[in-house]
Formats: sequence, structure tokens, C-alpha cells
Amino acid sequence: MTIQITDQLTEQLVSYRRELHENPELSMQEYETTARIKNWLTSYGVTILDYPIEVGVIAEVQGEQEGPTIAIRADIDALPIEEQADVEFPSKNAGVMHACGHDFHTSSIIGTAALLQQNKALLKGNVRFIFQPSEENAQGAEYVANAGVLEGVSAIFGMHNKPDLPVGTIGVKPGPLMASVDRFELDVIGVGGHAGIPENSIDPIVISSQIVSAFQSIISRSISPSNNSVLSVTKLQAGNTWNVIPEKAELEGTVRTFQDESRTRIPERMKALAEGIAESYGARADFRWFSYLPTVKNDDRFTEVVQEAVVDSGYNLVEAEAVPAGEDFAFYQERIPGYFVWVGVEGPYAWHHPKFKLQEGALPVAANFFANLAVKVLDQWK
Ligand code: NI
Repeated sequence: MTIQITDQLTEQLVSYRRELHENPELSMQEYETTARIKNWLTSYGVTILDYPIEVGVIAEVQGEQEGPTIAIRADIDALPIEEQADVEFPSKNAGVMHACGHDFHTSSIIGTAALLQQNKALLKGNVRFIFQPSEENAQGAEYVANAGVLEGVSAIFGMHNKPDLPVGTIGVKPGPLMASVDRFELDVIGVGGHAGIPENSIDPIVISSQIVSAFQSIISRSISPSNNSVLSVTKLQAGNTWNVIPEKAELEGTVRTFQDESRTRIPERMKALAEGIAESYGARADFRWFSYLPTVKNDDRFTEVVQEAVVDSGYNLVEAEAVPAGEDFAFYQERIPGYFVWVGVEGPYAWHHPKFKLQEGALPVAANFFANLAVKVLDQWK
């Protein structure tokens, strides 16, 4: 039996989504959003679980049959962007906007919770709903995980809307889907001096230029061509006038990878090149690496059941395209197996654009898909 949302529930999801869109809240400040989600879930009889978190909501639908607990996660936060979208329900909070469609994630997963509550006779186990705060600054997943919400959970499922996919389409792909996101800083310390007498200085600008060039050889020469990676130097700052060689240059940037071996190998090579080049000039390089987000990596055990849920729900299955952006869903997948999909929302602008827009016709798609997925995953659990 396939679960299908009613028009009445779809209308409610549309109204929730618009209310959330009008009242966006920034990461870790989602107090009103939290209250709204609790009210809406409670109105369908979904149980709110008590965890020590101030923002975000953890709820659960308990199946009528025994079985494991799986989780479905939706992120709830907005971005510090002034809305310019052409919609009838624009943001009322100046400078804050749901420009990544987390209002869509939240309302459609409320729909899934309502559908499963009505169909709990079909569930061979329990479904926990994680309405997670603070995805945009990558703190929310750890925040709720540290509160213990993953205890007793066997697997987790999630989505991001995808504006370049049509409504009714769901993108599925085993393995890496979103990149690891890490940051680096590098100081090159030489000896400052008179620009006209360079032989008495050690010029950090010349040395840094060579390091930046050498970094560009890491992806092409030290990483397999089948492993996509990005290394971007985004800051190179040195000096403050025309006739003085500065003492120090400061560099900063980011590395994105889809494979663990690249994520280990790239900073090793960066450190070796920076230190080696600096040393050869009598300068010193101080390389610092800041791990930020792991890769969103889908567990192949669930590929078939996810694909089956797409098709049985009546939607178009497409192969998901991996993107070099990050998602803190990856933190859950470090702890328990998980699967993340794209849900087509057909919008003209990319994520985080001030005119970001999506088609609300995708709300019932996501609600139905995740409801049917939960039933199937628990049904096929081995
Ligand atoms: Ni997002």
C-alpha cells in the first residue's frame, strides 16, 4: 500500500511553509520556529520527545509493530540575506530570509510525520523526526546529537531541495553526494626591509606567490583524476605600501573533497609544499588546518529501497549530481548509516540567492516520498 497525501493536508503544508517563510530565524535563534513546529505536530497527535535542546524539535511516531527506530531530518534555519524574491509572503524579518528552502524542508517533513501518524499500523518500528536548528553554520547536527537524539536510532534519512530539478523528481546517488568543507590558514614569515635593497630582505610576497602556484599542482598531480576536489586560495594579504617589503604574508582558503583519502592527502601536501618552499628561501611557513564538515556519503545498503520509494510513490527517479557544497547531515552519517537525496523544486535561482524561489507543488512530493520510504525501510529491515 502506498501512502498518498490528501489535498487538505497539502493545503496545510502550504500555509505552514508560507508562515515559516514570512518569519525566518537565523541559526540557533529558531525559537518561534521551534514553537510553531511543536504546535503543528501536536495538532496531528505526533509525540514530541523531551531532549535538552532550546531550539529544534525532536518528535516520534511509534509504529504499531515492533522494530528499529529510524530518523528523518529536516533543517529549520534561515540566512542573513535581505529577501528580493517575488513572492506574496515575503520575509517580515529585515535582513533574514529562507534563501535555502529550509522552510520547505520543515513543512514537508511535518507532512511526513502527519502521514505516518495516520498510518502507524503500517510501521514495523518507529520514526523519529529531527527538526534540526543551525544547519547554515554547521553547528546544529552536533548540537542535537550531543543532546542524545541519535541514541537508539539505526539509520537516518534527509534531503535538500534542488532548484535545477523539476517538481516530481527525486535525485538519488550512492556514495559521496556533498563535499567535505575545510578551511586553511597560512602565514609566510620572511624578513621585511627596503624595497630598493631586496637582498637584505626575505620577501614573503614572492614566496607566497610560488606557494599558491605550487598548491595548484596538488589536485592535478597528487590526487587521482577520478576523485574530484577543489582547492581555492581566497585571501592573500601582505604589505601596506609601495616601497617596503613586508615581513609577513597571510593566506587563507578552502578545500572541498568527496573522498576521505583526498581529505587527508591534500593538507599533507599543502603543508609540505608551503614549508619546503618557504625554507628554501630562508623564510618560515606556519600552516594551520581547520576541519569543518565531513562528506555527505550515502550508505549503499539503502540505495535500492530509496529508489523503490521514489518509483512507488509515483515520482521520477534521476541520478543525483554531487555538489561541492557542504551539509552538516554529514555529522549524523559519521555516527550512523544515512542517506541524503535531492528533491526537485524547480526554481530560477540557486541556493542562498536573494531571489531564491521554489515551487510549492514539491511539498506533497517530499511528504509522500519520506512517508513511503520510512514504511519500506522498516519493512525491509534485516
Ligand atoms: Ni540548505
